[in-house]
Amino acid sequence: MNGLDLTPWKRLGRDGILYAMNSPDSEPRPSKNELREFSKVSRTAFPHIYFRSFYGIPYADEMSRLMDAKEKTKELHGKDTAHEETIPIMEARYKGGEMALEKLIQQYPNAQVLELAAGFSLHGATLAEKYPEIEYFESDYSPETIVAKKDVIESQLLKRKLPNLRFAQGNALDEESIQSILADADTHRPLLVYNEGLMAYLSDAEKEKLAAIIKDLQRQFRGIWITPDPAMSAERRDRLATFTKSMSNKGFLKRAEEIAGQKYDDHGFKSEKGADEFFASQGLQIEKIPQPTNLHSFESYGFSPEMIQQLSEDIREYGKVWILKANL
Ligand SMILES: C[S@@+](CC[C@H](N)C(=O)[O-])C[C@H]1O[C@@H](n2cnc3c(N)ncnc32)[C@H](O)[C@@H]1O
Repeated sequence: MNGLDLTPWKRLGRDGILYAMNSPDSEPRPSKNELREFSKVSRTAFPHIYFRSFYGIPYADEMSRLMDAKEKTKELHGKDTAHEETIPIMEARYKGGEMALEKLIQQYPNAQVLELAAGFSLHGATLAEKYPEIEYFESDYSPETIVAKKDVIESQLLKRKLPNLRFAQGNALDEESIQSILADADTHRPLLVYNEGLMAYLSDAEKEKLAAIIKDLQRQFRGIWITPDPAMSAERRDRLATFTKSMSNKGFLKRAEEIAGQKYDDHGFKSEKGADEFFASQGLQIEKIPQPTNLHSFESYGFSPEMIQQLSEDIREYGKVWILKANL
C-alpha cells in the first residue's frame, strides 16, 4: 500500500468498480485541470470487439456475439465495411502489445499492470488468468464501458471474479484519477503501464501530459511504459491509402472522425521518427519490438493473397511496440 488519500470521488461502487472520476449515478467530479471531454472517443472502442472475433484468441468470439458487436459496428459505421480492412493491422497491434506485456511479466513475475483506455480489450482477463501472481488494474474513461465490460467478463466469459483483476473508471490525463486507481498498488512491485488505441486521439499537449503522468508513476514504482500507439501515424495512413479502401475512402475517414468527434490530423503522431523524437524529448529511453505478421484474420476474414502480402509488408515496416523507460 502506498498510503495515498482516498479522495471523496474515489468510490468503490456496489458493482465492485472503482470510480476515480465519475460514476454513472453521480455528478461528474469537477476537474482542476480543465480536461476536455472524451465521450465520443469512447465510441471507438466498440468496433474492436467485432474485430477481435477474427483474431483466434480466447473469449473474443463469444464476447462479440454476446454484445452483438457486428450489428452495433454496422450501426456506427453505416453500411460501409471499409473499416474491416484494418482488422489485420489491429490484430498485429493487439498481439504485438500482448506479446510485449507477456515478455515483461515473465521478466518481472511480481509485476502490477495498469492498462489505460482499455475499452473492451481482453488483455486483462487473459493475462490475469494466465499469471495469477500479477495484479492487473484495467481502466477506461467511460463508466458505461467499464460497467459493461466487468459484467460480461465476470458473469459470462470467465464466469468468476479473478482476485487479481480490477476494473476502474478514470481519465488517463488526470493524475489524481490515476493515483486513485493505484491507491492500493504496492510501490515495492514494478508497474507496467499499457495503452493501445489512445494516443491517436491526443493532441501534442495531451501526449505530453500523459508522458508526464507515466514518468511520475515510473518514479513512484520501478516501471515501464508499453504502447503500440505510435505505429499508426499520419505517414502510415497515407501509405495505407495507396492500397486500402479504408484509408483512401474520404467518406469512411469522415465517418470515423464523426464517431470520435475529432480530426485525425490534429492528433496522434505524424511519423515514427516524430514519435521517437517526442519520446526522447520527454526524457524516455526507447526500445522497439516488432508486431507479428502471422495473423489469424488473414484467413478467418478471407483477405486476398495480394492484400495479405501488402498488409504484411506494411506491418513489417510500421508495426512496432514501444517500450519506454524514464531516465530517472
Ligand atoms: C479506440 S478505443 C481502444 C480501446 C481498447 N484499448 C482496444 O484496443 O480495444 C479508445 C479508448 O480510449 C478511451 N479513452 C479516450 N480518452 C481517454 C482518456 N482521456 N482516458 C482514458 N481513456 C480514454 C475510450 O473510452 C476508448 O475506450
